[in-house]
Amino acid sequence: MSKRIQFSKTGGAEVLEWVEVEPAAPAAGEVRIANKAVGLNFIDIYFRTGLYPAPAMPTGLGTEGAGIVDAVGEGVTHLKVGDRVAYAQGPLGAYAELHTLPASKVVKLPDFIDFETAAASLLKGLTVQYLLRQTYELKGGETILFHAAAGGVGSIACQWAKALGVKLIGTVSSQEKADLAMANGAWATINYTEENVVERVRELTNGEMCDVVYDSVGKDTWEMSLDCLKPRSLMVSFGNSSGPVDGVNIGILNQKGALFVTRPSLNGYADTRERLEMMCDEFFAMIESGKIKIDVANRYPLQDAGKAQDALQSRKTTGSTILLP
Ligand SMILES: NC(=O)c1ccc[n+]([C@@H]2O[C@H](COP(=O)([O-])OP(=O)(O)OC[C@H]3O[C@@H](n4cnc5c(N)ncnc54)[C@H](OP(=O)(O)O)[C@@H]3O)[C@@H](O)[C@H]2O)c1
Repeated sequence: MSKRIQFSKTGGAEVLEWVEVEPAAPAAGEVRIANKAVGLNFIDIYFRTGLYPAPAMPTGLGTEGAGIVDAVGEGVTHLKVGDRVAYAQGPLGAYAELHTLPASKVVKLPDFIDFETAAASLLKGLTVQYLLRQTYELKGGETILFHAAAGGVGSIACQWAKALGVKLIGTVSSQEKADLAMANGAWATINYTEENVVERVRELTNGEMCDVVYDSVGKDTWEMSLDCLKPRSLMVSFGNSSGPVDGVNIGILNQKGALFVTRPSLNGYADTRERLEMMCDEFFAMIESGKIKIDVANRYPLQDAGKAQDALQSRKTTGSTILLP
């Protein structure tokens, strides 16, 4: 038997239960991982609250972890028992001592990445890889606006943008978060709870505005984000931390300057083994070179996942949070 977090109905953190289960043996093409550290991500809250529907109830939660391969199903060739590995996709259930998932979603960890670093960064780092290198291929010299710049994804984005020679303007809700974003390589910050973001962006860019806006806040920032863009440039809406963007009249893209918009996801980019490996290679190289350092800022026992989610949802955290089985 082993333990995991599961929930039977959607709601607040109180729906999460710490239960004993019979761990699934890996079927053909699957592996079972003994987790050493589990990643906490905002998407876990979307599933718990029901914004994103879970496929079945009761359900496990979480899609990111790092640990040691504990059992291998038939036909798996790239992994063996004892390998150090990490994953950021696959079925819900990473909030567990043992997690079984398709081997195609699991990558071997290089020696220079420990389990805590991997669990704190694989999902967020691959997200930044596709946002800055694929959704829009930043070459250096561009100016971008990135919301929630002191968060888990934001902290990696600040460092990657700096390494690319991109001016990242980061929005944050406090001076402490502004200081952290600047320390991570942001070019400027704006406190979006106090300042007029559009006017500040206009000042900072001498009226030019931004080449790309990366918006994971959603509902509260959608329209302001469009106003921060140059004509014919790109709005990347990739999250809903304040609620989903809905009811959009497509004509607004014309009114705001013949804009482009995309709503991407990690699964939409790391959708084949080749693409996943390419993205991991690039992200791991950024860590090895020291250009990106992962801030494992918050650690909770796995059974306290609800407390960790409450801290993330109430904007109390900076950097990444991990859960320890
Ligand atoms: N599409 C994808 O592939 C993908 C992948 C990974 C993550 N994401 C998205 O990226 C975002 C960041 O994820 P993360 O796990 O790294 O979280 P995070 O950035 O560490 O935490 C979310 C941050 O959003 C900001 N925020 C603004 N309004 C908020 C509100 N009403 N409620 C809560 N937070 C609010 C807060 O920063 P301030 O206090 O500074 O405002 C908060 O710290 C999430 O929206 C997530 O869904 C998308």
